[in-house]
Amino acid sequence: MTSTVTLEKNNNIAVIAINNPPVNALSQSVRQGIVEALTAAENDADIAAVVLACEGRTFIAGADISEFGKPPLEPHLPDVLQRLQQSSKPVIAALQGTVLGGGFETALSCHFRVALQGTKVGLPEVNLGLIPGSGGTQLLPRVVGVETALQMITSCKQEKVEKLVDTDAIDQIVDDNLLHAAIDFAKTVVSEQRAAVAVPERSIAADSFVADIFDQYRKTAAKRARGQTAPQLAIDSVENAVKLPFDEALAKEREMFLSCRASSQSRAMRHAFFAERQVAKLEGIDKSVQPLDINEVAIIGAGTMGQGIAMCFASAGLQVRLLELSEDNLQTGLASIYTRYQQNVKRGRMSEQQLTDCMDRIQGTCEYDDLAGVDLVVEAAFENLQVKQQIFSTLDKVCKPEALLATNTSYLDIDQIATATSRPEKVLGMHFFSPANIMKLLEVVRADKTSDETLVTAMQLGRKIRKISVAVGVCYGFVGNRMYACYGREANMLLLEGASPEQIDKAMQAWGMAMGPLAVNDMSGIDIAYKARRENPDLPDDPCYFRAADLMVESGRLGQKTSAGFYQYDEDGKKHADASVLEVFTAEAKRLGVEQREISEQEIQDRLVFALINEGARILNEGIAARAGDIDAIWLNGYGFPRFRGGPMCYAQELGLKNVVSRIEQFREQLGDRYWQPAERLVTLAETDGTLV
Ligand code: COA
Repeated sequence: MTSTVTLEKNNNIAVIAINNPPVNALSQSVRQGIVEALTAAENDADIAAVVLACEGRTFIAGADISEFGKPPLEPHLPDVLQRLQQSSKPVIAALQGTVLGGGFETALSCHFRVALQGTKVGLPEVNLGLIPGSGGTQLLPRVVGVETALQMITSCKQEKVEKLVDTDAIDQIVDDNLLHAAIDFAKTVVSEQRAAVAVPERSIAADSFVADIFDQYRKTAAKRARGQTAPQLAIDSVENAVKLPFDEALAKEREMFLSCRASSQSRAMRHAFFAERQVAKLEGIDKSVQPLDINEVAIIGAGTMGQGIAMCFASAGLQVRLLELSEDNLQTGLASIYTRYQQNVKRGRMSEQQLTDCMDRIQGTCEYDDLAGVDLVVEAAFENLQVKQQIFSTLDKVCKPEALLATNTSYLDIDQIATATSRPEKVLGMHFFSPANIMKLLEVVRADKTSDETLVTAMQLGRKIRKISVAVGVCYGFVGNRMYACYGREANMLLLEGASPEQIDKAMQAWGMAMGPLAVNDMSGIDIAYKARRENPDLPDDPCYFRAADLMVESGRLGQKTSAGFYQYDEDGKKHADASVLEVFTAEAKRLGVEQREISEQEIQDRLVFALINEGARILNEGIAARAGDIDAIWLNGYGFPRFRGGPMCYAQELGLKNVVSRIEQFREQLGDRYWQPAERLVTLAETDGTLV
């Protein structure tokens, strides 16, 4: 057959085995191998049925996403699947692991499906800006019903086969010995002469779903996946399954898939997929460097951040010591952790038993001496260099010599924190994002003296607690917050120039950001960044710099916690525009000599996004981030950047770097060169037709 597909005979059953590590993706050689093996089995008079199975940890986990950007190679997947559906001999799929996308479409193109317990199936194409393109939207509703199909396709959720065992999607679940069981199943099909009905031949009963179900799903998808094309098309395609003959609906599905595949949204989402995996690969570190075992972790500080960090580790099965200096604060922190876990139970995210287990893993203490045996400390105390240096000096004395000492600082200089210890090679930053138990991002900050072993250990631990962990270097604000400062700077400038908070937030949400910058600021507390700015050694000498935010803080408007910030908040926490802040900004603009004017949505979007891009390019140049994709992974997972734009660096590439440079130059002419100088990296790449991502 091919290098990735083999054919073996087990009496009258042919076994087609795919071996294409790591996830048996449907690369060209796999597609070709399946066709060749099937043809051989069909032509072999001794063979009565065929089992399609995979070596390794999973059945086919999907199309080979890395082939999507390249010229398509024959045989195309729809043709391969048609061959399976029309096979003259029954085909039985043996499912294990994660059966996703094209893998699930392959399984549904077989006549029967036997699965190992715990196997998960799903059609996650929408996550990649695609729709299932080889019959998924036609086959799935025929076996699980319209509603379940819509739910699975639009949510991208992987469903356990146990949940689908009463549907035609799964014929049998076995505890072990999958291949053996699938061969036995095939023998039974032959001996009982069971009818091998291909899924396309099954019909969908018109009364099996409510008439307006498609509109309901369209509305929900418009909210949940704002700005995304693929979910809407996927729903249209499932609707076609009930309205049109199979072949016609299938042809339309393919058309929609191809248009999605060529779209910038899908390019961006595929980039995001690979960028989020690439972050784990550290450049320049020898493969022989092994991570240390981390079983017990201490958290310093039981405030909101410390609580969330403690929850991350406890949920991943690690023992946690939570340290607060006052017993009262400790008890408040522990009670708050319990309440936060309870919310997870209420939402069905964890069981009562899991809650009890997690709480049992967290032990509170007010004594530093209790931290003597921990493997790692994450300090989440007050953001002040002297306070942190004091804590690190104490930790250095009480913790065992091999323990790693991490700080959760958002902007302080970790090199300076490390000087307070005798083990700077074991000191690093682990910068979580609030709420730490929910946000996916972790910046792992490598200080000057941090050793490779320390970095590798923290990166592996980040993966264990299910974070997208990105290694970054030391600078004020690291990668995410340093870029955010440029984004926020422009929002603040625009307020002085005459844009309202609602106008700015609406423009950025329309562009795709999860929330507008000023609503975010109100939510997290305007005073936090205010205090941080006062510690910034490189604060520009500019009276307009974050002046709008400073005015809010100086008049006691700290955001939601004081029921007033850039907006006014009523008793239910609902936000309202507040005309009085506009008057404050107008008066300040006059005082500072800033001319107010009408500002377009486009200008707001461009100024905020291009400020991000420019700073990202500088960060790359300085080596604070290793790859453009790392910056994108940070923005996608920590700042609500729209996935369908791939991250600031991917978006810049999509716009064309020459266009990016020329827009930044326009801003330089309009606004001066204090902030608007195109980054060297952008200029060089634009001149040489180079690429950022
Ligand atoms: N095509 C190409 N490569 C793929 C792939 C695919 N469909 N799915 C996974 N890979 C690669 C990953 O890039 C990674 O490569 P790397 O080790 O070089 O970084 C490797 O396979 C392992 O993937 P990873 O996600 O790290 O492993 P996991 O065990 O956490 O998850 C999956 C496995 C299959 C659940 C996950 O990779 C996944 O969701 N894949 C995409 C499935 C999909 O969307 N299929 C539909 C495509 S249309």
